[in-house]
Amino acid sequence: MATMVPRYDETGPIAPVDVSRPELWRDDRFAPLFARLREEDPVHHCPDSAFGPYWSVTRHQDVMHVEALPDLYSSSFRYGGITILGEGKPIWGEDLLPMFIAMDRPEHSGRRRAVAPAFTPSEMERLRGDVRRRTEEAIDALPLDTLFDWVDRVSIELTTQMLAILFGFPWDERRKLTTWSDWAGDLEAMLDPVRGRKRLDILWECSARFTQLWKARETAPPAGDLISMLVHSDATRDMTPQEYLGNLILLIVGGNDTTRNSMSALPVVNARWPGEWEKIAADPALIPNAAQELVRWQTPLAHMRRTATADTELGGKTIRAGDKVVLWYMSANRDESVFAEADRFVADRGNARRHLAFGFGIHRCVGARLAELQVATLIEVLRERRLRPVQAGAPERVPNCFVHGYRSLPARLVRV
Ligand code: HEM
Repeated sequence: MATMVPRYDETGPIAPVDVSRPELWRDDRFAPLFARLREEDPVHHCPDSAFGPYWSVTRHQDVMHVEALPDLYSSSFRYGGITILGEGKPIWGEDLLPMFIAMDRPEHSGRRRAVAPAFTPSEMERLRGDVRRRTEEAIDALPLDTLFDWVDRVSIELTTQMLAILFGFPWDERRKLTTWSDWAGDLEAMLDPVRGRKRLDILWECSARFTQLWKARETAPPAGDLISMLVHSDATRDMTPQEYLGNLILLIVGGNDTTRNSMSALPVVNARWPGEWEKIAADPALIPNAAQELVRWQTPLAHMRRTATADTELGGKTIRAGDKVVLWYMSANRDESVFAEADRFVADRGNARRHLAFGFGIHRCVGARLAELQVATLIEVLRERRLRPVQAGAPERVPNCFVHGYRSLPARLVRV
């Protein structure tokens, strides 16, 4: 392998930049690199990285352009799927457990339709009261003016409870959903033979538990949870067991790290820009927008990846069939040509909804409404209680370039 030393801290013509390096994410040092790429070389080739050669797409409009052409830029697991890792090989075992996020049309369409009914506006209305009650309980259990880990007590707890309810998953086992999701999204573990093996064992444990639940629901009368819906609905009862499991794992991973890390961002932005919480305190009508802005600011999935299916041109560069094209949402959401003062959290930002954290096009996040409901409810409950969560120490960040988030975050609740 050729040795390539990224010259990201030098001036002069830009040299290959490898924004996938885990330490950049662990130490929160990626932003200046993306700023420079957006400015100087927005579609950038990195010839060598731990994940092999790849293109970085860093501008908002280019990310949308690629996502709007899903036949030319494939998501399929057959080429390596939707993260920077896959090298013409399935990554989450999608060949055994197919997930529709890593499929192209027409396979993708029907499978997405099968789970979409769980996320309609009327379903969200049905869940609203429950989301609120659980959020109130979690917040009311927190100490005032005392240091605690916001990730564990709030973000993980609320997202895991939500998934347990959505799946009808046994309540006292719900933290298993967190463990499974964390391992599934850990790209660095996949590069390490020992941790990679452990990861696969954990994913098989997850599959085995869901197989048991599936069998139990099959013989029980239809109920409102997602497992029962999939087992009993006409549209999905023909899914193979593998496919059913693949889609459940997708929903666990999709709904876990992402909403969790959006919630984790709240004490961080409150500590940096206290005036924004004052805007929310003064005007509750801002809450839905503030929730979107929080998702934009955090961008819990830093990238999705596509593979070119034919030679093409992007931003003046020639992309060859088979090339790995990484769409950096983290960079697109900091694109100053779309978001003024993009590094700031601005509760009343006029165009917060233009963010790409949920993706765009046919794969746009199917759970976006649920995520919005959960994040907005959290802000609402805190505001009503006149409580402001504030970061109160250094966070431990997830050291990989896929899940952009926090393992722990010391915080305090302050009465305002
Ligand atoms: C703030 C929270 C969330 C963020 C930032 C997020 C982000 C994303 C992104 C970036 C994609 C891929 C979009 C693309 O390729 O264009 C995606 C797809 C998906 N998400 Fe989410 N997600 C969130 C919450 C959820 C929740 C709560 C669920 C379900 C419980 C969920 C389930 C899914 C599924 C099933 C897909 C695949 C959609 C498809 O391929 O058609 N996500 N999400």
